[in-house]
Amino acid sequence: MDENRMNDDFSEENSSLWRDTVHLPAFKPLETDIETEAVIVGGGITGITAAYLLASEGMKVVLIEAAQLASGTSGYTTAKITSQHGLIYDELMAHFGEEKAGLYYRANHEALDWIGQLIQKHEVHACYEMQPAIVYATTDKEAELIEKEKAAYDKLGIPGSLVYSLDLPLAIKNALLMPDQAQFHPLMYLHFMVSELVRMGVPIYENTLAATIETGQSPVVLTKQGYRILARDVLICSHFPFYDNRFYFTRMVPERSYLLACETESVVPGGMYLSAGDPKRSFRSLSLSGKNMALVGGENHKTGRGESTETHFQRLAGFANAVLGENRRISQWSAQDYTTLDKVPYIGKISASQPHIHIAAGYRKWGMTTGTLAAKLLTDQILERENPYSELYNPSRFEADPMIKNFFIENGEIAGHLIKGKLEKSGKFLADLGDDQGAIVSMNGQRAGVYKNKEGKVVMVDTTCPHLGCEVNWNQGERTWDCPCHGSRFSADGAVIDGPAQKPLRKIYSEESSDAGEQNTSS
Ligand code: FES
Repeated sequence: MDENRMNDDFSEENSSLWRDTVHLPAFKPLETDIETEAVIVGGGITGITAAYLLASEGMKVVLIEAAQLASGTSGYTTAKITSQHGLIYDELMAHFGEEKAGLYYRANHEALDWIGQLIQKHEVHACYEMQPAIVYATTDKEAELIEKEKAAYDKLGIPGSLVYSLDLPLAIKNALLMPDQAQFHPLMYLHFMVSELVRMGVPIYENTLAATIETGQSPVVLTKQGYRILARDVLICSHFPFYDNRFYFTRMVPERSYLLACETESVVPGGMYLSAGDPKRSFRSLSLSGKNMALVGGENHKTGRGESTETHFQRLAGFANAVLGENRRISQWSAQDYTTLDKVPYIGKISASQPHIHIAAGYRKWGMTTGTLAAKLLTDQILERENPYSELYNPSRFEADPMIKNFFIENGEIAGHLIKGKLEKSGKFLADLGDDQGAIVSMNGQRAGVYKNKEGKVVMVDTTCPHLGCEVNWNQGERTWDCPCHGSRFSADGAVIDGPAQKPLRKIYSEESSDAGEQNTSS
């Protein structure tokens, strides 16, 4: 069987199975100045859960989202709810000590329990299933790491066992199984919480982009549309902190990864699998509308530094064929995640001098438990209650952190990208481009980013990232410009999709609007 051919006829646009199968209610943009007790910026699992928790405690809350609810990472996840975040506990013990490594496990385990209890209590139909999480080794070196990780589990009292074969047809050396974890349909779950927010009268505004925060006695969130939200507390639960006075962009590494949903006639083995080494592979089952499906993911790479998106999808299709046999790809999508320098997310007060501005970021792909524990932690902080995990996740811990070395390595690489891109000449010309294609081309000896749309109309942008000046790269699979430095992403015509950039790419020319020479205009 040719593994790579079975899925070759798939030609759909990228779209997430979660978002295709459940539609959250829509909300109008904010069109007036308002005042509240807590404003939550970001309508993913963190923001929605925080709004739910705070409103349940009787607090006056407003939730705003730049696009649509769950249109960021929460709508594009593998939706594994687990405390097994790959191989992490041995490393956490080495960097943070036994006590903090144990706290990391407990924080995630409590979040897992909390989600399960909420689903049970309210009888939420969310395709929720208990499953073991399994990280597996295919080489001797990875097998050694698994054994070390098992030793860390034993020290920390984490339930887990070594196994030497899987229900999947994969040749493995060994694997570490964590029992009683879970998986679900994230949008069915969030749909319940959003309905509860509506029932509790929480105002929700979509297409409302927070541009900055005015700090003073009470913080004020200013929206891009010019409206002001005065609040005692601001929770920044957006994918990337839109307000970044602490240089978080230098302390988080953006990564992209890819997912396929495949349907099959055969029964899909249970368990949530993850490879210990590269290339990264993730696998889980899903039963939806009576159909057997598997979610196959991986192919992680730093943003702006991967191969063509289709190559990544084809490799995953090959893995799906090898593991599932006959199957049909029904959707494919990709996601962007951020990892902090020491792999522990930043959750808490943005700084000691601004105790009413809170952030939650850098989930390293483990957003279901981390988003939930972040919402619980920030709720406690706002209600001035003790939380046992505050110190572990404290965003200001960087100053004393031993991982400072990673700071210099990562930013050294970035400096390289900054210079390299500027010096490289493009060997492509406008005439080389077919319809629906983009590239960096040479125009009168200068570099320019060009996309020719399906009708052959051209839009041309300056490839200098408006954040700090790195050169963006064209991503043909998603028709986006991706920055290799801090992960900003832009649409084909230069509009911001992902921060930290706040301004679009400078548009040089557009056949759509004839706005040659248009400058950056957004704030
Ligand atoms: Fe920082 Fe592009 S995201 S330079």
